[in-house]
Amino acid sequence: MKEFDLKSLIESRKGENYELHEKYMNRTFVKVLKTIGFDKCFLRGEGCYLYDLEGKDYLDFISGYGVYGLGRNHPVVGKAIKDAVDMKLSNMVQLNCALLSGLLAEELVKRLGGRREAVFFCNSGTEANEGAVKFARAYTKRPRVLSQKGGYHGLTYGSLSLTVNKHFQEGFGEMVPGFGCVPYDDLDALEAELKKGDVAAFIVECVQGHGVRIPAPDYLPKAQELCRKYGTLFICDEVQTGLGRTGKMFAFQHWNLDPDIVTVAKTLSGGYVPVGAFITTRAIHQAAFSTLEKCVIHSTTFGRNALAMVAGLASLSVLDNENMVERCAEAGKKIVEKVNALREKHEYIKEARGMGLMIAIEFQEPKSLLKKASWKALKMANNALFTQMIVTSLIDKHRIITQVTDHSMDVLKILPPYISGDAEIDRFVNALDDVLSSAGNITGPLWKFGMRLLASSKDSKKEV
Ligand SMILES: Cc1ncc(COP(=O)(O)O)c(C=O)c1O
Repeated sequence: MKEFDLKSLIESRKGENYELHEKYMNRTFVKVLKTIGFDKCFLRGEGCYLYDLEGKDYLDFISGYGVYGLGRNHPVVGKAIKDAVDMKLSNMVQLNCALLSGLLAEELVKRLGGRREAVFFCNSGTEANEGAVKFARAYTKRPRVLSQKGGYHGLTYGSLSLTVNKHFQEGFGEMVPGFGCVPYDDLDALEAELKKGDVAAFIVECVQGHGVRIPAPDYLPKAQELCRKYGTLFICDEVQTGLGRTGKMFAFQHWNLDPDIVTVAKTLSGGYVPVGAFITTRAIHQAAFSTLEKCVIHSTTFGRNALAMVAGLASLSVLDNENMVERCAEAGKKIVEKVNALREKHEYIKEARGMGLMIAIEFQEPKSLLKKASWKALKMANNALFTQMIVTSLIDKHRIITQVTDHSMDVLKILPPYISGDAEIDRFVNALDDVLSSAGNITGPLWKFGMRLLASSKDSKKEV
């Protein structure tokens, strides 16, 4: 039998992507990607760009949902992983303490500072949150866990029960009893729940990923204060915001918060190997690992695997050595300013907002009569249709990847790599300008496409 050869496998099968997924995987997703014009075949990624089979470059402004802060295939992280493979490292001995996980834990603790000094490694964001709430229950001996309305914490049952959104929960049966959310930015509602004395933890995204919502300036510090007052642990879900994304190493640092538990994932992976972690106080950590019998009471087989630890260590070093956090803050500011400057020209733009490179561009109903009528028609047909038309035009005409964040909002979201420079920023802003210029032309290509989307959106609730 022929020996496995990755290069020849890809060479001989490239372009079969959608056929294979249609046949063996999520064919509903295939249908949607084809409808919205995202059915591309990418062969390669480097820095801010993806390259298709013809070698055409696509500017990736969603970074694998925030995984590629450092850009795709960062050479330093890639080399570290190659080195690890070449070194034939010992790995997952399990009944053993490996050097690399100890070193990565040390680096995370250094960056978090303060009381958080014990780390648990896992494989994803949702798993980090699952662990965090489990440990919070062990420490407080209380049953309930609360999140904020609009938050997203992952799709396994514990995290899903805290992602209080019909879209994600409906059809999957009972959620975890005692898990739920409080209204966004509402301290009275939070206090009313905490007062009951049975809430183990309150978990927040300091900046909510869905819609890029930034809370009122005093909300988070006061929420933390209330948690302290009522003996509830305060968890910051930094899976998306952590490790530079908001222009600080951690988003909670914008408000000088002091969370009991912090969860991370995405950027820590360097985009190479899945990794997640939560970092907490020694006392909370020990509450779960409380006796010799319980020394591995919470664990996961792949959690401290060597390649993930190498990706994490190399990624943290690149974040520092290449001033990634500062670059992210500066690039984000430029994009928000430039898009907001387009408001004079495009009445569709309500505002660009964000922190660092977590940016939302919110659209609004235009005032001029013709545009207003067409906006309303689109809204009636499908709430997110206008934004989807813009997103699809950006990829179709300008080869720029962006996303609709939530179908209940008129928000286009971007999570560009931290290494985005003027060339990338200008390409995006000019493309948005161009696409919005043709948005009012109901005989133009954008609208033809909109009509196609509209036809398929009518089927969006039909079973397939
Ligand atoms: C804030 C937040 N928490 C948790 C998750 C879940 O992470 P994962 O998809 O790695 O399970 C995400 C993913 O987008 C996220 O943005």
